[in-house]
Amino acid sequence: MPTELKINTAVTASCKPNTSAAVGQRLHFLDGNIMRHTPLPRILPSEITDEHLWTTRREWLQRAGLTALAVGTGSLGTAAYAAKAENNRAVLPATRNAQLSVDETLTAEEDVISYNNFYEFGTDKSDPERRAHRMETEPWTVRVEGEVLHPRTYDIDDLRKLAAMEERIYRLRCVEGWSMVIPWIGYSLSHVLNDVQPTGNAKYVEFITAQQGPNHMPGVRRPILDWPYTEGLRLDEAMHPLTMLVFGVYGKLLPNQNGAPMRVAVPWKYGFKSGKSIVTIRLRSDEPQTSWVKAAPHEYGFYANVNPEVPHPRWSQATERRIGGRLFGPRTPTQMFNGYGEAVASLYAGMDLARYY
Ligand code: MTE
Repeated sequence: MPTELKINTAVTASCKPNTSAAVGQRLHFLDGNIMRHTPLPRILPSEITDEHLWTTRREWLQRAGLTALAVGTGSLGTAAYAAKAENNRAVLPATRNAQLSVDETLTAEEDVISYNNFYEFGTDKSDPERRAHRMETEPWTVRVEGEVLHPRTYDIDDLRKLAAMEERIYRLRCVEGWSMVIPWIGYSLSHVLNDVQPTGNAKYVEFITAQQGPNHMPGVRRPILDWPYTEGLRLDEAMHPLTMLVFGVYGKLLPNQNGAPMRVAVPWKYGFKSGKSIVTIRLRSDEPQTSWVKAAPHEYGFYANVNPEVPHPRWSQATERRIGGRLFGPRTPTQMFNGYGEAVASLYAGMDLARYY
């Protein structure tokens, strides 16, 4: 087997499934505990938040009390770190959205762009940075289709102009137990969804990553996941103002390893919900089967809300390690919904979050 195809099977390595679960088998024991997989009941459309609950942004902001997240615009402005940039990506101007940003020390840019999960390029954290330059990102179009009144194929340049670019500082919490604080640039996904107008049947949104040949994406030679990488959200989650289409990071266009030219960021969910290098957004009446749920349904659920009380079979979710901090320093407690509870908890009112993990 060529070196580049080797899979690091250390359990701490990533959100990769246990290797025998990777190709669709179900593993029922990990860490010595018996895990029984009970198929999750699909949520009924009638249980999904009504359309009127997400249509008015202002009303939503009041309801969610998002001002609790708001911070001043002061110390972390683009200029402060642009000078430190060590790569030549094009600048992407944006205005800081303080109301949707957290006030925490940023993870260093070099960590954000070199410690990545992007299995299309391999399963080691350094593989995406080393190999993602092979991905073709020009030309790039994004098809938005399915249960919409106006299906469209957008050129990436048109998408970049569809709404004002905002810089938002979000936490990213990976299911593997590490976290970062990242200055993403983009805008709320709702702008695009409103542009195509979901039909009354639309209840879910599916996100499909580009699938390019193994010369471009060497990781797809291995059936680690059912390529292309597919993720999904409920429509009300997708319409939430925090759910972001991301085009840039640290004041510049996204590097390929972070999901150029466009990815998703859903800060209250584990990182695997945020698909990278998206080419199709499909509105659906039924819940999409996502790559991780297909690979290991007992380990990964459709919802994947950050929840310190629901352990993953291989990783306790009670604590996390901030990337860039001391490797063996104390771990910090993980917050429910990654700290975005005031803004998003109402989406899950009445739901058993241990069952819908
Ligand atoms: N998207 C694709 N297409 N392929 C992937 O392997 N990994 C996910 C998510 N999106 C992944 C993906 C996981 S597990 C995480 S934690 C985040 O991307 C990591 O994003 P980052 O590398 O920009 O930090």
